[in-house]
Amino acid sequence: MEDNSNRSSFSNRLGFVMAAAGSAVGLGNIWRFPYLAAKYGGGIFLLVYLVLVATFGYTMIMSETALGRMTKKSPVGAFAYFGDRFSLRFGGWINAIIPMLIVPYYSVIGGWVCKYLFAYMQGHVKQLASDTYFTSFIQNGISVELFFLLFIFLTLLIIYMGVQNGIEKVSKIMMPILVVLAFIIAGYSVTRPGAMAGVKYFLIPNFKDFSWMTVVTALGQMFYSLSIAMGILITFGSYMKKDVDIEKSTSQVEIFDTLIAILAGLMIIPAVFAFSGGDAASLGKGPSLMFITLPKVFASMGMGTFAGILFFLLVLLAALTSSIALAESAVSTFEDELGWNRKKSTLLMAAIMIVLGTLSSLGFGPLSSIHILGMDFLDFFDFLTNSVMMPVAAIAICLLILKNVTIEKMIAEVKSTSKFKRKKIYVFILKYLAIPFVAIILISSVLDVF
Ligand code: PHE
Repeated sequence: MEDNSNRSSFSNRLGFVMAAAGSAVGLGNIWRFPYLAAKYGGGIFLLVYLVLVATFGYTMIMSETALGRMTKKSPVGAFAYFGDRFSLRFGGWINAIIPMLIVPYYSVIGGWVCKYLFAYMQGHVKQLASDTYFTSFIQNGISVELFFLLFIFLTLLIIYMGVQNGIEKVSKIMMPILVVLAFIIAGYSVTRPGAMAGVKYFLIPNFKDFSWMTVVTALGQMFYSLSIAMGILITFGSYMKKDVDIEKSTSQVEIFDTLIAILAGLMIIPAVFAFSGGDAASLGKGPSLMFITLPKVFASMGMGTFAGILFFLLVLLAALTSSIALAESAVSTFEDELGWNRKKSTLLMAAIMIVLGTLSSLGFGPLSSIHILGMDFLDFFDFLTNSVMMPVAAIAICLLILKNVTIEKMIAEVKSTSKFKRKKIYVFILKYLAIPFVAIILISSVLDVF
């Protein structure tokens, strides 16, 4: 076994929480959660999501962090730690590959955010609020591609310079501002005439709106938003010192991440009712929802330009801390498993990001005639990672624990620093519920597209 004494580590609990929260809070909360909640049933989606986070999400987030701390390895190494079998190698690699597939399309959305930030800085607050602004922008291949490349450049520059510490410091200042701003915008949004119907739609579960896809989508969103089932937390856990309370720190990340998602829902969904009628068509707008409804809110408020700039700047920073975590995990996999140096590994990641991301970025313009399983490229990569690969990765982690690590060892790892208040739920979910539940979700999401 290699010597791990040089492995870098977070200085304390706050270090872990900040890094994990920085990776968790991102476009998933502000852009993805509201449009999925709007599309898949509003209050009932929120309810299912919260139940999943408190049970299954909790189990996964604890498991991954503890596995990382126990083995002091990133995903491929953590699986291999328990033996050299094909199944273990597969489990490690599927966890490691997911971030490599997410970060390219994540950067496309990051590019859209950059574009909006620039447009607000130019004072285009009125134009941005028109119904056609977004669509004509994403159809313009060159412009989308340029902003996408800008976002990749920012991500890789930070990774290459290795200034995550700087990023952690920035997050500490930025996250609180993001929360305050989110409260202000949400407060403004819910008090618009007609917005109350949206608040009700988002917060009050209505079983009429329930469908099996609500559960499938909520599960995928939970993986995505908490950054679980993709090896990230194994890596972060491996940087966690042996005296940090795992239960407390993961709970904080969970609560913070969920709070931001709910606030984003309150910023966006009531605005859909106030400004676009809140019918099925406007709620089902999908990936474009944030870019279409929020500008209407900004245009209608005083200091809209200022609010737009501040909002998109914060979203950009939140997106960057996430894309850095995603790309960083890929780069470190290349370093560890291929034995490449940082520069070569970063270049390989850049190539992957540019090639795969370009497909997604041009998928609404020049490549819009190409569809995979009825989806454009961006939706396809989103579906492949969230609805297919992450369930497989989650099953792999559960199997690893049940078959190789043993639940007792996991409990011992957590208990060495935490009270482990929710131990019973943890063991029950891991032993009986997780694998069958995720397997059913996986099968139904695959069946859904065929
Ligand atoms: N959780 C991030 C978000 O909500 C996305 C992400 C996934 C970041 C995986 C890092 C790792 O935007």
